[in-house]
Amino acid sequence: MKIFISGAEGALGQEMTRLLRSVKVKFLATDIKQLDITDFKETSKVVLDYQPDVILHFAAVSNVDTCEVEQDLALRVNALSSMGLAIIAKKIGAKMLYTSTNFVFDGNSEEPYSEYSKPNPISVYGKTKLLGERYVRDICERYYIVRISWLFGRNSKTYISKFVATEKKPGSIDVICDQFASLTYVEHLAEALLRVINSDNYGIFHIVNRGVASWLDFVLRAKKIMRFKTNVRAIKMEELNLPAKRPRFSPLASNNYEFLFSCEMKSWEEALNDFIKSIIQKS
Ligand SMILES: NC(=O)c1ccc[n+]([C@@H]2O[C@H](COP(=O)([O-])OP(=O)(O)OC[C@H]3O[C@@H](n4cnc5c(N)ncnc54)[C@H](OP(=O)(O)O)[C@@H]3O)[C@@H](O)[C@H]2O)c1
Repeated sequence: MKIFISGAEGALGQEMTRLLRSVKVKFLATDIKQLDITDFKETSKVVLDYQPDVILHFAAVSNVDTCEVEQDLALRVNALSSMGLAIIAKKIGAKMLYTSTNFVFDGNSEEPYSEYSKPNPISVYGKTKLLGERYVRDICERYYIVRISWLFGRNSKTYISKFVATEKKPGSIDVICDQFASLTYVEHLAEALLRVINSDNYGIFHIVNRGVASWLDFVLRAKKIMRFKTNVRAIKMEELNLPAKRPRFSPLASNNYEFLFSCEMKSWEEALNDFIKSIIQKS
């Protein structure tokens, strides 16, 4: 199996390449420095030359506030480049895996969203990622759309994940307490994606750690385990006055993945333990 990866220097891309190297699967890892996926002509050339069996399309403008401010960029990277890669995948008969988000939902639910809950994005990020999903679904026959939520772990850009991983912690940190979702440990996700692409189980998947939490729950639990002294102050989303609206309650249920692969995702608490262990081992 040969794999082409976009967004390989992002949090998920780095974890995936580490895993693929360890299991000796061949891949071509690209990020914006090597290949701008909004350049369809160049992307076609690179991918057609490589002739992968699978395309892992991770590249995105993943900062939701940047998307709100730079809407054209968000559309080009999140949506149009996904259309381009889907067309290329179809042309060469490759499987296509596209990572999407819980932000395709509006957050007005009372229970975790399933794969067949109706999307209704409330931000430019959510809208452009949903458009990307639609292109992939409509163009490719052999596709996997994998929705994830609040990625954490090595190399994650999420400020809370970075805060937990950093050795020198600040005296105080403000953490949002009124937004609830699923958490996804990047190491567990990469392992799950490898299983998915080795299968012929196509379609939409939610892949997240079990349970529901706020970032405040996450930080307080990390504080208890790691015994750091930082003062954690709970704040409400509206206090931050951020450009993008966020869904208030958007956990995902990994129904399809757990059913088709006969497994259970670990809880976010177990995943956090695994993450903390990996931080301790590294230092
Ligand atoms: N992080 C989360 O909590 C989360 C939640 C739900 C879904 N997702 C989805 O999961 C996927 C991976 O997320 P992640 O956290 O690993 O994202 P990430 O760390 O932001 O990585 C995305 C990578 O894509 C690169 N990129 C941006 N524009 C590009 C372009 N035009 N051409 C080529 N590469 C480009 C980025 O480079 P720059 O850094 O230089 O822009 C970055 O290295 C994304 O599809 C994201 O939408 C993430």
